[in-house]
Amino acid sequence: MSPGSLLLATRSPDKVREIRRILGPLAGLRLVDLDAAGVEVLREEDDVEVYDTFEENARAKALYFHRRTGFPTVADDSGLVVDALEGAPGVRSKRFAPDSDVLSGLERDRANNEHLLSLLGDLELSRRTARYVCVASLIDGGEESFFRGEAEGLILGLPRGRGGFGYDPLFYDRGLGLTFAEIEGEEKNRRSHRGKAFRKLRHHLLEEGE
Ligand code: IMP
Repeated sequence: MSPGSLLLATRSPDKVREIRRILGPLAGLRLVDLDAAGVEVLREEDDVEVYDTFEENARAKALYFHRRTGFPTVADDSGLVVDALEGAPGVRSKRFAPDSDVLSGLERDRANNEHLLSLLGDLELSRRTARYVCVASLIDGGEESFFRGEAEGLILGLPRGRGGFGYDPLFYDRGLGLTFAEIEGEEKNRRSHRGKAFRKLRHHLLEEGE
């Protein structure tokens, strides 16, 4: 990688796609994902995000890949915080359903969504409040920065829409009257936790580059 590269440290193609669109072109800086950088997948990567806050997990991921590559690195940790479940699934959003460890991709998403629906049961809609949280952690030499974004919504009783990923078919944006799976990528980025966090990162990078 060239000295003007920023490593995007996530193995999720959904996140890579969204983050690339949110950050857009950054003069003098090339965003390189782990595949493009040739960073081999190691089993130990699964043991990096063991903490109880989004900040700690995002930092752990960014530091881990920074140490492996030596490049300025950004990583995000994100998840769904449901009030009626005392904040669950939170930082455990990716592996929420009991059997989700052995699943991947769409099957894991489906298991997590079904588990969420079963826990909420027939709770009335007004009490199904939730928010998506995203924290981006930037490690650049000795400097560390965090950028947080949140998006408020309700968890529907049935999935709606075919776009997005993860919990998006259940996550209802009251302002739009649609789930995150019913809107275009650009619209999701305008409203989403990840859009808010990574626009703050973009602002920071542009200021640094001045
Ligand atoms: P992470 O890779 O540890 O950050 O896990 C994030 C998990 O939170 C994902 O696997 C999804 O289950 C959920 N999640 C985070 N952001 C989104 C989103 O934008 N849409 C749907 N689900 C999300």
